[in-house]
Amino acid sequence: MKRAKMRIGVVGYGAIGRHHARNLAQRPDVDFAGIADPSPAAREAATAAGFRAFASVEALAASGLDAAVVAVPTSLHERAAEPLFESGCALLIEKPLAQSMTVAKRMVRRAEHAGVPLMVGYVERYNPAVEALRDFIAGDRLGELVNISARRVGALPPRVKDADVLVDIGVHDIDVVAFLTGARRIHLVAARGGMALLDDRLDHATMLLDAAGCVVTIEANWITPVKVRELTLTGTKGYCRVDYMTQDVWFAPGRSFAPAATYEALVAQYAEGTLMQLPVVKREPLARELDVFIKGVRGGPLPDPHIALASLRLAEEASRAIMANFSAERSA
Ligand SMILES: NC(=O)c1ccc[n+]([C@@H]2O[C@H](COP(=O)([O-])OP(=O)(O)OC[C@H]3O[C@@H](n4cnc5c(N)ncnc54)[C@H](O)[C@@H]3O)[C@@H](O)[C@H]2O)c1
Repeated sequence: MKRAKMRIGVVGYGAIGRHHARNLAQRPDVDFAGIADPSPAAREAATAAGFRAFASVEALAASGLDAAVVAVPTSLHERAAEPLFESGCALLIEKPLAQSMTVAKRMVRRAEHAGVPLMVGYVERYNPAVEALRDFIAGDRLGELVNISARRVGALPPRVKDADVLVDIGVHDIDVVAFLTGARRIHLVAARGGMALLDDRLDHATMLLDAAGCVVTIEANWITPVKVRELTLTGTKGYCRVDYMTQDVWFAPGRSFAPAATYEALVAQYAEGTLMQLPVVKREPLARELDVFIKGVRGGPLPDPHIALASLRLAEEASRAIMANFSAERSA
C-alpha cells in the first residue's frame, strides 16, 4: 500500500457501523472514504454526520479503497463482502463471520483466494479489561485456570432477526475463552436452552465447554430484563471478576496450598479473600480493534480467521444439540 493514509470505508451504517465510521473518521492515519447503505434514512444520518454516503457497496468500492469494515446484518455479510474481495480490499467483517459454518468457511477460502487480509470483529478481546486479564494470566497471577464462567444476558434486541442467541452473542465469550486460555481446541460437553419468547430460534442457552482442561460455562440469553456482561475466572492462585461494560477487573488472591496433617488444619489455612480492583486503562474496545486491524493491514499480526471459524462451529454445534433435544422433548 503506497498511500500514507489508509483509505477505508464502512459498509452498513447501522447500530455498529456508526461507531466504526465515527472512530475511523477521527483517526489521523485514515482517509475515511464514507459509508455504503441502501437505506435512505441511514445515508441521511451519515450525511448529517459529515460522511460521504453511497447507495451500494459497489459504488463505495469504486471510489478506491485499501480496506473496508463490513457491518451489515450477519446473513448479508457474504454478499456485501464479495465486491470488496473482488477489488482486493482488506476486510474487517463484524462477528459472527456468517450465519452458518458453510458460508463462513466459503468466506475464509474466498479471502485466501483473493489474497486479502481478513479479520473478524470479535471486539471483546480488545476490551481493555480483557486485555488486562490476559496479561494477568500470562504473569501466572491466577495459577492454573480451573473454571471460567461468562454471562451475557439482557433483553431481546429489536434488530437481530437472522441468528440465534449463541451465534449472535454466545460467540463473543467463546472467542474470549480462546483468547484467554490459548486452548487450541475447545470442546462442547453439553448445551441446554430453548425458546421462551421467540418461536423460530433459541433465545436462551447455556453451554458447558472444556478448554484444555479448564471447565467453562457460557450463559447467553435475550430474556433477562437487565443487561449483564460478566466473566469470572477461578485459578489455583485466585479469582478474577470482569465487568465487560464498565471495564472493571477485580482480583481476590487465594491462599497457598500448603500441605496439612489433618482436614481441620487444611481448612484453617483458608479464609475468604478480599476482592481488590486491578488497574485498567479504559478505552473504547472498538478503537483498539481498529488499531489492530489497521496495523495488521500494514503488515502486523492479525488474529487468525480460523479462530473465528472455530467459535462459530462451537456455537452452531451447541445450537444443534439444543434444538435436537428440544424437538425430541416436543415429540415425546
Ligand atoms: N462487535 C459487536 O459487539 C457487535 C455489536 C452489534 C452488532 N454486531 C454485528 O454487526 C453486524 C450489523 O449489526 P447491527 O446491529 O449494526 O445491524 P443494523 O441492522 O443496526 O445495521 C445494519 C445496516 O446495514 C444496512 N445494510 C443492509 N444491507 C446492506 C448492503 N447490502 N450494503 C450496505 N448496507 C446494508 C442496513 O440498512 C442497516 O443500516 C451484525 O453482523 C452484528 O452481529 C457486532
